[in-house]
Amino acid sequence: MEWCSCQSEKYTSMPNLNSQIIPGAHSAVLTDVVQSILPTARIEPFRLNNNTGIDLFLMSEDYPRGRLPQEVALALMEQPFYWAFCWASGLVLSEYIFQNPELVKGKRVVDFGCGSGVVAIAAAKAGAREVIACDMDPLAILAAQENAKLNNVELVMSDDFESIEGEVDIIIVADVLYDRENLPWLARFNERAKDVLVADSRVKNFDFPPYQQIGRREGCTMPDLDESMEFRDVRIYRAIT
Ligand SMILES: C[S@@+](CC[C@H](N)C(=O)[O-])C[C@H]1O[C@@H](n2cnc3c(N)ncnc32)[C@H](O)[C@@H]1O
Repeated sequence: MEWCSCQSEKYTSMPNLNSQIIPGAHSAVLTDVVQSILPTARIEPFRLNNNTGIDLFLMSEDYPRGRLPQEVALALMEQPFYWAFCWASGLVLSEYIFQNPELVKGKRVVDFGCGSGVVAIAAAKAGAREVIACDMDPLAILAAQENAKLNNVELVMSDDFESIEGEVDIIIVADVLYDRENLPWLARFNERAKDVLVADSRVKNFDFPPYQQIGRREGCTMPDLDESMEFRDVRIYRAIT
């Protein structure tokens, strides 16, 4: 496949599939967390719309939109529920990993900025030897654990990238560059592992050698945040040394 030989692929647009709610599954702990700030919001189990068969506890599609009371808006700024969405890059990368399982098969993988754990779960399902899901947000760690259980996979959790010991074969990073303060991490990842895969829907003039663009696909955050098309344009980069 072209992706793995690091050729840039043609832009691939997303098939028009609807997400599907999985009956029976429920996460009381994630529901309680969300409702402590947004009492009318719900967490529901969704099947991703990208043929990976991954199920995730995510914010329900009828989540409160529009103007929120100031104290709620402030609480959300303080504690954004990133983990309650599957971001466009996570959606795209999970499918990419399924299509190219040799990237992770038998390997020790770190998913940096795991959020819901979507990429970590994809790597585990694709045959990784060990997957470490890393996020600085303790609620993301909780969500990734809940989602790992939902998908019957094992993840090792870490809230501190620098405390991960031992050799890491590949670091995978989906949609963490929205915070430009994370850009210096790109160099650190390249020092830490032989292989680094980054997907991003935010930084458009991405010029960080030795990263090279190897793919470009359309992906939409689940549930849909009604963002502009620009944020559905996911580019995939690999550190090529
Ligand atoms: C937009 S979400 C993406 C989540 C997931 N990768 C996906 O694609 O659905 C970004 C996640 O990265 C985490 N994050 C951002 N900066 C981080 C850092 N410096 N160290 C660890 N986690 C970070 C956030 O807490 C959040 O969970």
